Amino acid sequence: MTMDTLLGCAGLSAGYGSMAVVRELDLHVARGEVVALLGANGAGKTTTLLTLAGQLPPLAGTVLADGKPTKAPMHERCRTGLSFITEERSVIMGLTAKENLKLAGVPTAAATALFPELEPVLNRPAGLLSGGEQQMLTLARALARRPRALLADELSLGLAPIIVRRLLTALRQAADTDGVGVLLVEQHVRQALRFADRVYVLNRGRLVLEGPVADVQSQLGAIEAAYLAGAAAEPDRPEPTAALATPVAVPNGPAADTEKEQQDDERPPGGEQGSRVRLRQRLRPQRSRRDREAAGG
Ligand SMILES: Nc1ncnc2c1ncn2[C@@H]1O[C@H](COP(=O)(O)OP(=O)(O)O)[C@@H](O)[C@H]1O
Ligand SMILES: [Mg+2]
Repeated sequence: MTMDTLLGCAGLSAGYGSMAVVRELDLHVARGEVVALLGANGAGKTTTLLTLAGQLPPLAGTVLADGKPTKAPMHERCRTGLSFITEERSVIMGLTAKENLKLAGVPTAAATALFPELEPVLNRPAGLLSGGEQQMLTLARALARRPRALLADELSLGLAPIIVRRLLTALRQAADTDGVGVLLVEQHVRQALRFADRVYVLNRGRLVLEGPVADVQSQLGAIEAAYLAGAAAEPDRPEPTAALATPVAVPNGPAADTEKEQQDDERPPGGEQGSRVRLRQRLRPQRSRRDREAAGG
């Protein structure tokens, strides 16, 4: 964690009532970073976001905002630059796109600057927009308020790959140009990894893997098999209903080369900027003693 940490947690247990569904979680998001939080259905991703946002009180451990512990509830956190896009689609269907923006105090021009696609549909009731347009509206509304940190929970659920890419591109741009720190829960794992800097993988409420995307890429097939239960090997495949009972060791070898994966190997525009990927950090399971000593721990 650095001075740049916008959002994070240390030793966090989170859950409902007295039942922890997330345990001993350490996670952080820095300024200008896009971080993907992955895991099978029920792994605890939404619970984590709710707790980081101040919507659920932690059962143990600390939530951090700007590097400092916070217990502030969500409405206060939102005033100081947090934006949370929840799993539920939050546009008001009976109002037009323009009215939705107005209600949120967002100038139409700010929204269409982010998503010119919204221009022709501004006067249409949000309920008559496509799923993609609704989520562009949601994202425009969130980003136009210039948050410092953005939590996005399954922004692209059920949307076509081209729309998923469009939404993730907008998040990447917000991070790159405005320094927004983004924590993204995404079922489209391969798409998310094209746009993210780092990744955390949760399995049954525990962190099983973390590292820069560059390190995770080569193990993606194995990670999916072990922890994601194939949830997003293909963009439109429905989620499995249960997580794997037992975590499986992730081998270091290259991921299985299916035709699908090879197709998926193209990079996003601008993805060649190697600077985006922090290579210093290693995946936890691969950390050597020398690394740990070098890191002073
Ligand atoms: N409101 C709730 N009350 C009790 N248990 C819940 C509640 N919401 C989620 N859970 C449980 O917490 C676990 C993690 O859920 P969740 O964080 O929604 O997972 P994910 O977002 O990774 O799919 C699941 O076992 C789920 O059944
Ligand atoms: Mg969820």
